[in-house]
Amino acid sequence: MNLEERRLLSIDFINYTLVFLNAYICYMKKTIFFLCVCVLGSCNAGMDKKIDELIAQMTLEEKVDMLHGHTMFTSAGVERLGIAPMKYADGPFGIREELEPNSWMPLRLTTDSATFFPTGSALAATWSEEMAWLYGKGMAEEARTRGKDMILGPAINIQRIPTGGRTYEYFSEDPLLSARLAVGYVRGVQDNGAAACIKHYALNNQENNRGMVDVVISQRAMREIYLPPFRAAVEEAGALGVMAAYNKVAGSWCAENDMLLNKILRDEWGFRGMVISDWYGTHSTVKAALSGLDVEMPGNNFFGQALLDSVRNGSVPEEVIDQKVANILRVRLTIDPIEETSHINPVSTPEHGQIVYEVASKSIVLLKNESNLLPLDLDQNKTIAVIGDNAIRKNATGGIGAGVKARYEITPMEALQQKTRDRANLVFARGYKGFSWRDRVRGGVLGGEVLTGTGGMLSGSDASAAQLDPDLLAEALEVASGADLVLFFAGNNREVETEGADRTNMILPSLQDELIREIARVNPNIITVVVTGAPVDLSNVDQYSKAMLVSWFNGSEGGNALADVLLGTVVPSGKLPFTFPVRLEDSPAYALKTYPNFDKAHYAEDIFVGYRWFDSRKIDPLYPFGHGLSYTGFTYSLPQTNKDQYRPNDVITVTFRLENTGSFNAEEVVQLYIHRSGTKVEFPEKELKAFRRIQVDAGKSKKVTLKIPVSSLRHWDETARDWALEPGRADLLIGTSSRDIRLTKRVTILL
Ligand code: BGC
Repeated sequence: MNLEERRLLSIDFINYTLVFLNAYICYMKKTIFFLCVCVLGSCNAGMDKKIDELIAQMTLEEKVDMLHGHTMFTSAGVERLGIAPMKYADGPFGIREELEPNSWMPLRLTTDSATFFPTGSALAATWSEEMAWLYGKGMAEEARTRGKDMILGPAINIQRIPTGGRTYEYFSEDPLLSARLAVGYVRGVQDNGAAACIKHYALNNQENNRGMVDVVISQRAMREIYLPPFRAAVEEAGALGVMAAYNKVAGSWCAENDMLLNKILRDEWGFRGMVISDWYGTHSTVKAALSGLDVEMPGNNFFGQALLDSVRNGSVPEEVIDQKVANILRVRLTIDPIEETSHINPVSTPEHGQIVYEVASKSIVLLKNESNLLPLDLDQNKTIAVIGDNAIRKNATGGIGAGVKARYEITPMEALQQKTRDRANLVFARGYKGFSWRDRVRGGVLGGEVLTGTGGMLSGSDASAAQLDPDLLAEALEVASGADLVLFFAGNNREVETEGADRTNMILPSLQDELIREIARVNPNIITVVVTGAPVDLSNVDQYSKAMLVSWFNGSEGGNALADVLLGTVVPSGKLPFTFPVRLEDSPAYALKTYPNFDKAHYAEDIFVGYRWFDSRKIDPLYPFGHGLSYTGFTYSLPQTNKDQYRPNDVITVTFRLENTGSFNAEEVVQLYIHRSGTKVEFPEKELKAFRRIQVDAGKSKKVTLKIPVSSLRHWDETARDWALEPGRADLLIGTSSRDIRLTKRVTILL
């Protein structure tokens, strides 16, 4: 055998060995998968057996006792059988302080402060399932330290209207983005020993009249837009808890909605955990019991004696009660109860501080940056005027909704002072009085009425009549005129955006538009930081700002993250999870005049929610969904797909090259939208189907791969009452935002 033959033989040998190894690994993977399924199956079987045994030992009274709240945030177990009570904690952006057992009054302990996590839209702006997982992990660890079993979160409804009171708690106007974050959050919580309770199921998209409003919606819009986050959290992440929303859907309250709870959640998605009502959101005994509600929270108006009576008189079969107890036990036996030791321990750790810093620093969105004014050049800008109440305001609590008694919260002003020290002269002026609960009461907002009154959110005509506080204005103009640069802190606060009430408009509160106009007269060098959890009207502020960022209600470390972005230690990489419309009337529910509403909310825009509406109707937004600039530049090139034609079970694999052409190492969120054509069914102009956050060093490039299962292109067929795939063309649009598409590639979908 000559040398060449020997070489070929050894290559053959290596190849055979590799093929064999490959086959072996494949086989082992399958075996391990099979074993996991068997182990899980037998665990489930074991658990089910134990549950049956426990239920067999319970009296009817004991069972019914488990089906309602015992205190504001607990429901009972059965002590004699060693079944611990369930302990719940709000959620979704920090573990709530301890309350009196039967009221909303805080106990005012000194040991129950927690980390304030960035609120929903901030987490969503990271476009990162990994960040959501870390977030969930931090939340679970704090919940466990405080003895809690179930976190009332994440809150994953779709942001339908820009003015929705809970927009800041929710993730996005897009179902895929919301779903991926919901999966990350739920897994993060449940991988770390606590149960997650996804809320508010379903269609809680407005706060005005939330307890009575009846949502009228097509099955298609419900399935394609509003349910996917809940479905993914159940099917993919195995969420253990679901909270039924306050509102009605198709005529029935969510806590007694057979279609939502029995048919979709349990029968279709296979949910095996427990359904609890939103607080005081139960309205009946028999209907709720038969429609799939497991636990009435809090109190026992319907699921106490009344339920017991209904079983005794035969209106509710005892098997239904047994199923409810089984649903609770499935959660109870998965989550280890925590011994009540000191009752409450301090929970907020430096590690959690690091998590919230990471999330916050990836969430900040750079909207514009004329002449690369950012990052700040402190040699050129020695004196900086910091103007606006939001620079010194903390956002952990407020409104009447979810709040966190934060162990600490760094404001933007504190962080800037600490990080610039003797490198810059920071001069602060409050500029406007932050909107307060008094303004809210004056404006009648507690009744869901109009927000007016000086310092409040004034509609156009009211605004022209009101005046800025003359002393605050004079002070602001003085510091602005003596400064090289103005950092203007605009936006909302937690009194403006709140549970229980929608905003009546998007106008920046406290006459901020007037204030910036005045400031620009004395110093046009303005960078605006928008502190908000929801879209606000930026059209005026935009004109006067050379650079603009959105910094959200960004948690305990929000100030540090913002200062690091302004100073360039962190390169901005957040992307908008929702559209900033030019005018409120451009947004779908307002354009179609289906909002404001009172007893019925007709979702007439159907599947055309958020950018799906703006793009399909060719309405330019001020800043589009997915938008967010960087200090570096990225180029996209060489798009390729693994095939040109795809069948229903295929996965479209797309690759392209992403190059960082600037001088900062940075992260980019690449987005892939699909435009359908040649189809019989109407689709939105484009729909997000894949995205990824990628780190690329300056001057370097990376090959990016995105995968889109063809099944994700299906639509809901109203006639067949099922998912269906439309054949036809699909343009893959790859870009850095929904309106900045850099690459396109056409493929064909075949049946
Ligand atoms: C909210 C829920 C919350 C519950 C308990 C309700 O008003 O809608 O999100 O978990 O109160 O605080």
